[in-house]
Amino acid sequence: MEEVAISRLSGDAEARVCAEMMASSDPWLHFGRTFEQCLARVTNPSGEVWVARIDGVPQGFIILVLQGAFVGYIQIVCVAESARGGGLGSRLVAFAEERIFRELPNVFLCVSSYNPRARALYERLGYKLVGELDDYLMRGESEFLMRKSVGPLIEFLPDTNRSPTSEEK
Ligand SMILES: CC(C)(COP(=O)(O)OP(=O)(O)OC[C@H]1O[C@@H](n2cnc3c(N)ncnc32)[C@H](O)[C@@H]1OP(=O)(O)O)[C@@H](O)C(=O)NCCC(=O)NCCS
Repeated sequence: MEEVAISRLSGDAEARVCAEMMASSDPWLHFGRTFEQCLARVTNPSGEVWVARIDGVPQGFIILVLQGAFVGYIQIVCVAESARGGGLGSRLVAFAEERIFRELPNVFLCVSSYNPRARALYERLGYKLVGELDDYLMRGESEFLMRKSVGPLIEFLPDTNRSPTSEEK
């Protein structure tokens, strides 16, 4: 694969590039997400946005949520259509795991029943089905909650400077 650099989202212009990548692609087209809604997701301060760039050009991104229930949550993974199938999505998920497993023993994500290829990718990467949320986003469709774990919370020594998560309390 070409040289990939992953770092935090930088600035409004890049946020708009990421929002456009999302808004022009399934499953978000299928869910009727507008560009403005995608931009709101990318710029929401509750998420940590990491961008994968090749030759400085954003080709994919991942949004992590590191607070709240099911903490260690991959909220969005998106790779530009022209860059798919070359390993970039797997690279972004591996990067997220490295980031999350430093602080927490679980990585969670949801994948839609509409998106069996993405689910197959997550299964290949070691994610296990936790449960099915039927009629969650769309009537007649489900979101599958998946998890990859390196151990029970109780055996995991969190950073002592970090305040307890809702799961640990
Ligand atoms: C899913 C996605 C992030 C994977 O990134 P990628 O760089 O294509 O992934 P990799 O090259 O590491 O792995 C390829 C695998 O990704 C999955 N994949 C490829 N294209 C896909 C697409 N358009 N939609 C969903 N999954 C796809 C397949 O499992 C594929 O393996 P296969 O070719 O053997 O079927 C990327 O395809 C994408 O952005 N898809 C559209 C958005 C999406 O579905 N995001 C996930 C929402 S939960």
